[in-house]
Amino acid sequence: MKGIIFVVWEKYFAERFGSRMLASYREALNETPDKLPLVGKTYPDEWLVQGLNIASSLTSVSEDRLLIEYGRYFMLDNLVEHLCGYLLAQAWTGYDLLLLMRDAHAQMRRTPDGLMPPLFNYEFLSKDRHHMMLTYDSHRHLCALLEGCIYGAAERFGERAYVHEHTCQKRGDAVCRFEVRFTGESWAKRATPQKIKQEKDRLSKRKLSDLILSTLTTDQASSLTLADIQHAVEQRQGPYFPEIYQKQHTSGPVHVLQIHNELARLQQVGLVSSTLNQMGDTLESRRYWRSPTRD
Ligand code: HEM
Repeated sequence: MKGIIFVVWEKYFAERFGSRMLASYREALNETPDKLPLVGKTYPDEWLVQGLNIASSLTSVSEDRLLIEYGRYFMLDNLVEHLCGYLLAQAWTGYDLLLLMRDAHAQMRRTPDGLMPPLFNYEFLSKDRHHMMLTYDSHRHLCALLEGCIYGAAERFGERAYVHEHTCQKRGDAVCRFEVRFTGESWAKRATPQKIKQEKDRLSKRKLSDLILSTLTTDQASSLTLADIQHAVEQRQGPYFPEIYQKQHTSGPVHVLQIHNELARLQQVGLVSSTLNQMGDTLESRRYWRSPTRD
């Protein structure tokens, strides 16, 4: 499972229960400083199961409750906003975000990192489609996390979500079926076009993303290193200059670190693939290419 899940989990845990509790948690997990999770890496699912188990016994909060809280936290967290902003900038209601995430998770399956994000299905129960039956089917049985994510998705826009689980894989049912109803009006419905644009730019930092994506192809044989991409971006830079240079009223090249961070964000949402998880990978030798957007 992708490192972002583990990194944000520890952030949540420290904020909710304090840094001393986090230290006890890490000690119980035998998580020494050299083993701390990294966003770009992938880790075995068992780590989450084990971590959840330890967290629950340390805090006396049930695993399901922890997962619901964590899912909500994940959707509102600034690190997730930073890494997944490219996606988050494409939806303006809780309902839209939920639908978008179905496709986005499917996209993550097309990268070579062996990710298996959940696939959701929907049946609409009302004409405005805000009332639906959602089916979740995952060998991980993380339906409580899904529930929390739905609350967080609604909260991002000042809406509320009502969720009722009718069937559950953990009770032996074939799939989990959730009745979901979004209520309230998203702040985005009343926002001026300028405000939306501002928020979109903040979340997506899209200009640089687009520039980077335009340098890559889906052909792995034509993959590029960070240095290649920096060079290509410089060639194509055109009128785009990073915000920081605009503020100083000077212009300059895009720093390699910005490109590296942007590539990490694009990888996070499954749009870019790399050799990061392959043996012998180093920052210098790492190669990047575009993930295919069709199966
Ligand atoms: C409405 C919003 C969302 C919902 C309902 C949702 C739901 C979930 C659930 C339930 C899982 C656990 C995996 C499983 O059940 O098999 C998961 C995993 C994951 N989600 Fe989301 N998520 C949402 C938004 C996001 C966003 C904004 C990102 C950012 C890119 C994201 C990235 C991931 C990643 C990387 C994984 C781990 C997948 C893996 O490593 O196999 N999700 N998501």
